[in-house]
Amino acid sequence: MIEQCRNVDLQNYIDRMTQDEKIAQLLQLAAPFFEGANEGGQITGPMASLGITDEMVQGAGSVLGLAGAEEVIAVQKAHLAKNRHGIPLLVMADIVHGFKTIFPVPLAIGCSWDLELAEKSAEIAAREAAVSGVHVTFAPMVDLVRDPRWGRVMESTGEDPYLNSEFARAFVRGFQGQNLQGDKMRVAACVKHFAAYGLSEGGRDYNTVDLSERQLREYYLPAYKAALDEGCEMVMTSFNTVDGVPSTGNRKLMRELLREEWGFDGVIISDWGAVKELIPHGVAEDEAEAAYRAIQAGVDIEMMTSCYVHYLPRLIQEGLVEEKLVDEAVMRILELKMKLGLFDEPLRGADPKAEQEIVFCEEHRLASRELAAKSCVLLKNDGVLPLGKHQKIALIGPLASSGDILGPWSWSGSQEDAVRLDEAMRSYVGSSRLIVTQGCGLESSIEGQMERAVAAAREADVIVLALGEDSEWSGEAGCRSDIRLPQAQLDLISWLKPLGKPMVAVLFNGRPLDLHGVFGETNAVLEAWYPGSEGGAAVSDILFGEVNPSGKLTMSIPYSVGQIPVYYNHFNTGRPKDAPDAQVRYVSQYLDIPNEPLLPFGYGLSYTSFAYSGLTLSSETMTEKEPITVRVTVTNTGSCAGEEVVQLYVRDWSGDVVRPLKELKGWTKVFLQPGEKAEVAFTLCEKQLRYHHANLQYKSDTGRFTVFVGTNSRDAAGAEFRLEK
Ligand code: GLC
Repeated sequence: MIEQCRNVDLQNYIDRMTQDEKIAQLLQLAAPFFEGANEGGQITGPMASLGITDEMVQGAGSVLGLAGAEEVIAVQKAHLAKNRHGIPLLVMADIVHGFKTIFPVPLAIGCSWDLELAEKSAEIAAREAAVSGVHVTFAPMVDLVRDPRWGRVMESTGEDPYLNSEFARAFVRGFQGQNLQGDKMRVAACVKHFAAYGLSEGGRDYNTVDLSERQLREYYLPAYKAALDEGCEMVMTSFNTVDGVPSTGNRKLMRELLREEWGFDGVIISDWGAVKELIPHGVAEDEAEAAYRAIQAGVDIEMMTSCYVHYLPRLIQEGLVEEKLVDEAVMRILELKMKLGLFDEPLRGADPKAEQEIVFCEEHRLASRELAAKSCVLLKNDGVLPLGKHQKIALIGPLASSGDILGPWSWSGSQEDAVRLDEAMRSYVGSSRLIVTQGCGLESSIEGQMERAVAAAREADVIVLALGEDSEWSGEAGCRSDIRLPQAQLDLISWLKPLGKPMVAVLFNGRPLDLHGVFGETNAVLEAWYPGSEGGAAVSDILFGEVNPSGKLTMSIPYSVGQIPVYYNHFNTGRPKDAPDAQVRYVSQYLDIPNEPLLPFGYGLSYTSFAYSGLTLSSETMTEKEPITVRVTVTNTGSCAGEEVVQLYVRDWSGDVVRPLKELKGWTKVFLQPGEKAEVAFTLCEKQLRYHHANLQYKSDTGRFTVFVGTNSRDAAGAEFRLEK
């Protein structure tokens, strides 16, 4: 009855709206258009360039990039006063890894393998955003990534479809909660970028994506589907082509697959300008054709271009577009506003007092610090870590005293408020035992700095290097062809190496790097990614052993950029280099570098050590009705308590199509005291063995399988079983 009542009410709105008013609901404009952009009636700046009129702004359905309780309240009230039907604005913003309290970038969160903390980070982000007046977040980004040259790998959780799917669900749960209508402290989620944006050719943003439909469905679509199965309210189209057609005009991808096959009936929004970009893509001659392609493909909201408002009236009048398509899009937009309770409470959660109390509060920052520590990955340690409280430490590097540790998509956060590494370490060991100096710039040497670094290092027992990237070097359009640290930073290491002091490299960066010049030259390497508002504190917690690192890579670290794409779930080829009868030359290999990444998916060290033993299967035969139980004993064989991510992989030895050497099918985290053992059990069932066959049928094969359990995708013991009918 509520559904029926809801649509009847909304249909009344649609029936009363003029065609222009309906089309204006499909328009999304950035905040400046609403914040007095046309004071004194002058149409200026972006309004002029987009040909946006006052009427269009008054009728617009949504705004992006607006946040702050008082700002939103003012804009919403002004909008309602001008909108003939009193239809409220939807307020949307990019809240990808935190609002004011910035959490580690999603690639880092993925490395925590901690779904609960990931969900909690999204819930906290939603609470801070909701009291600041935001209704919808453009997150989670769930694009599968295999190319660290691409700037946006930091925004994804990595290279595995199953892990990405689980994190997609967790983020949607955190953002939306279980009752979006009744809980004003949550926001609607918008999964992005549909689809396969992470496969941009050459790791160059906005570039061509071309892949088989089988590959698309097997690797690139699962995480979007998982987000939608978890109730995600919106989908954002990607900039790239899929099979020759840009997503934003791709009817097969949107209408046929997303809407008809998957049954998604929520709002589809284009990415920024992506409707008009159908013209440079070469599938639309002009904005009229761009509008035609996008509305036919099923895009409801046009973000920040004006093809719909300028050309849909004519397309409808000429009978090229049915007005019903517009009505359906408006209905979906109004339904989302209804679901968010905006018709009854257009100010929804916007609350300046609550904003003061909870935004960037201690509880939220502690959560960020906890997740940041779990997201760091210890890549190497010869025993130099953890540092002792009585050691004299030289902290050297361009990121030693930098607040640029929030990462991309932290526009609503503050670098000034970030806990820097130097201040966190100083508060732990005191000023007398910490010397801090820059050593060099991010990508240039600085007169005299090297000498000062050498002098500081001479006085110290141990050197901690704070190295990495400028956050502008990743994120949207932040692509690099050479993914090594800049030469100036490698030179700094070379200058300090001859001193013979133990060196720890801490990396703040938005992608897996080519670690030549770092990994072999230092005694320990801690990958901190962009750890967020509490990043310095989290890294310090790990360096001094207050937290035992437990992070595991969810994206392979390449041996060098020449290996890319390199990922763990690859196929064997017909001439595997490591085959028992492999020839020396005529096998799949490089002449100058190894095939294997420097460090594989799932890899991460601890200050303790874990041993795996007793891998057993409940049966060597699985059937559709009889799953098998996989058991293994994990022992903490080291001297301190620690958390281990126990990973479960499967290999299908012979399929309808070639099958990966390993596929992640499960994981669990165990916390063990020194000497403590735990028996870990996984249930593995036939459904988990299904995949897309050549004819796209999604089913399993009978035959030979191996299940692996271990500490990463490379080091895992196996046991065989058969799937029988
Ligand atoms: C950007 C990004 C997208 C973001 C949108 C709104 O171009 O591609 O992820 O949500 O614009 O800021």
